[in-house]
Amino acid sequence: MLFKLSSKFRTFGRQKKESKGMEEKHFKRTLITTALPYANGPVHIGHLAGVYVPADIYARYLRLKGEEVLMIGGSDEHGVPITLRAKKEGVTPQDIVDRYHGIIKKSFEDFGITFDIYSRTTSKIHHDLASQFFRTLYDKGVFIEKTNEQYYDEEAKQFLADRYITGTCPHCHNEHAYGDQCEACGTSLSPTDLINPKSVISGSAPVMRETKHWYLPLDKYEPFLRHWILDEHKEWKANVYGQCKSWLDLGLQPRAVSRDLDWGIPVPVEGAEGKVLYVWFDAPIGYISNTKELLPDSWEKWWKDPESRLVHFIGKDNIVFHCIVFPTMLKAEGTYNLPDNVPANEFLNLEGDKISTSRNWAVWLNEYLVDLPDKQDILRYVLTANAPETKDNDFTWKDFQARNNNELVAILGNFVNRTLVLTGKYFKNRVPESGEWTDYDRETWEEVSKVRGNVEQLLDTFHFRDAQKEAMNLARIGNKYLADTEPWSVAKTDLGRVATILNISLQITANLGIVFEPFLPFSMEKLNRMLNVEALGWNRLGDKNLLEAGHELGKADLLFEKIDDEIIERQVQKLQDTKKANEAENHQAKPIREAVPFDNFTKLDIRVGTILECSRVPKADKLLQFKIDDGLKGRTIVSGIAQHYAPEELVGKQVCFIANLEPRKLKGIISEGMILSAENADGSLAVITPQKMVKPGSEIK
Ligand code: 2FM
Ligand code: ZN
Repeated sequence: MLFKLSSKFRTFGRQKKESKGMEEKHFKRTLITTALPYANGPVHIGHLAGVYVPADIYARYLRLKGEEVLMIGGSDEHGVPITLRAKKEGVTPQDIVDRYHGIIKKSFEDFGITFDIYSRTTSKIHHDLASQFFRTLYDKGVFIEKTNEQYYDEEAKQFLADRYITGTCPHCHNEHAYGDQCEACGTSLSPTDLINPKSVISGSAPVMRETKHWYLPLDKYEPFLRHWILDEHKEWKANVYGQCKSWLDLGLQPRAVSRDLDWGIPVPVEGAEGKVLYVWFDAPIGYISNTKELLPDSWEKWWKDPESRLVHFIGKDNIVFHCIVFPTMLKAEGTYNLPDNVPANEFLNLEGDKISTSRNWAVWLNEYLVDLPDKQDILRYVLTANAPETKDNDFTWKDFQARNNNELVAILGNFVNRTLVLTGKYFKNRVPESGEWTDYDRETWEEVSKVRGNVEQLLDTFHFRDAQKEAMNLARIGNKYLADTEPWSVAKTDLGRVATILNISLQITANLGIVFEPFLPFSMEKLNRMLNVEALGWNRLGDKNLLEAGHELGKADLLFEKIDDEIIERQVQKLQDTKKANEAENHQAKPIREAVPFDNFTKLDIRVGTILECSRVPKADKLLQFKIDDGLKGRTIVSGIAQHYAPEELVGKQVCFIANLEPRKLKGIISEGMILSAENADGSLAVITPQKMVKPGSEIK
């Protein structure tokens, strides 16, 4: 089948091609690639929303239309962060990637992401192909060789990647800044900016040493890139086109494609011992090697036949690599197709904060399914409804609940359920035969038939969020139709008319099963079971005879269920706990206050006393009242620690108190002194007690 560009593309295509007198582009097949996630942690909702759900919707849609399509995925298993994580855990990088590749692959399967292959960049096929690719460019004389000075750890006998060097930030004086960035003030750094640099591996001060690397001369390809992107791909999403334009306007520089590291694909050139391909050089080649692994005999057709269309699904941080660096590599190699489109998304935030693996600020896919089993489609739906297509967006659990309860349950589920229950009730669960249609029936169907064109136009131009809205519109049309025709009332007088109404409603339901398949695959499988039909192809969307009269339906069941507040509150609580834990971890001791003369200290009379009695102060939830043995006549002290101790916990314990503070009245009680406690990072208080029992009244010096 011929893949024709969508109407929106066609407009662009025509304008562009007409002015040049060129032919419109036709494609036979589509190769979809999805960014390869780093195998150094599980995947989270940000990954799903930005890349994998839209790619999966697109792939399912094309397959449903009968197009030839491949969807390629895999784990990105090289790079410095993986080696750092391995070092921290005392295991090998291979152990790390083995662990996370498995977890990530399973999460994608669980969420119905239909990869034709999900492989990995540590595979032999990938090492061989990436190595060969480098060698081809090397032999063609594409690279520039340059020697420069880099930090070297003499104890560990190795060059240090930027992340392997820490030191003091020249801007904010944070002592734990990295060679590429200071996380305290956010400044981008290079390792030579650091004051007192130290190797993360040995702790020693690194020295400068000469090292040779290979560079891809992006500057030489700038004229080609400018024309190819800025003139020939004006139809790319505004965020993608805009980012490319600003990179190009800033001017491109040669980029190193090798690194001094012991984890990765060895540079296949003599004299390159201890050097590997830069992870961003090998990772996109992973798309090719994974295709080759899947189709050893026919992979080239997907990459080299001009009738194959290449589409990269990625997040915005990957734009430069997929629109500038990788296309330059492909162009320099000379036999590959260039991407036709790169529908990159912006970022998804979580409850107002940037998603972060290191801060554990994420909804992890594997954990989601433990807490909300079988609710994959709800997350797919919410992430698409809120997809960060044009700007960063926020995921909140409240919105998740609202979209489920007010849209999936109240609109889609409700329509399907009413239709099936009424058919069960009036027609023994068989599709009733339609009588003559009224004008209103025809008007309704006219609305129904617009849905297909609208959804197609939106999907073809990567507007997944609006496409899903348009699909939901079909359920809205159905609900309105039932509400307006009231088959439950008509049933009292005219069962023939009810048959027509329910026939139409059932046809709408079957159409919903088609249009929602790319978005909600699990639920549509369930719907098909309820309708007792096999999945119907996209080309039948809009058909008013999908279900024949007399066809027996399956068992009706709820498609979606309401989500209660409790479930949402538990998730919100989980995030609050994470926030607290992070705050405690990041808590830095307050700076020391101004110096005071020694005399000021000796003026304070600090003593140890034993608690004889302790009770809550009525109508004051923070205060406890103490009776203290101070070695003299005893005293009363009121202290604000009721939220940290139960009164009975403290009786018999020794505490330190300031004995010569002027008495103060608190809630009508005279307090004769102040009990000392330490404030912990999380705000909790711990009273200070002497390390061993002393005589009540002992002075603190
Ligand atoms: O940003 C990332 O997570 C990278 N691992 C994406 C790589 S995409 C491709 F080039 F493989
Ligand atoms: Zn700083």
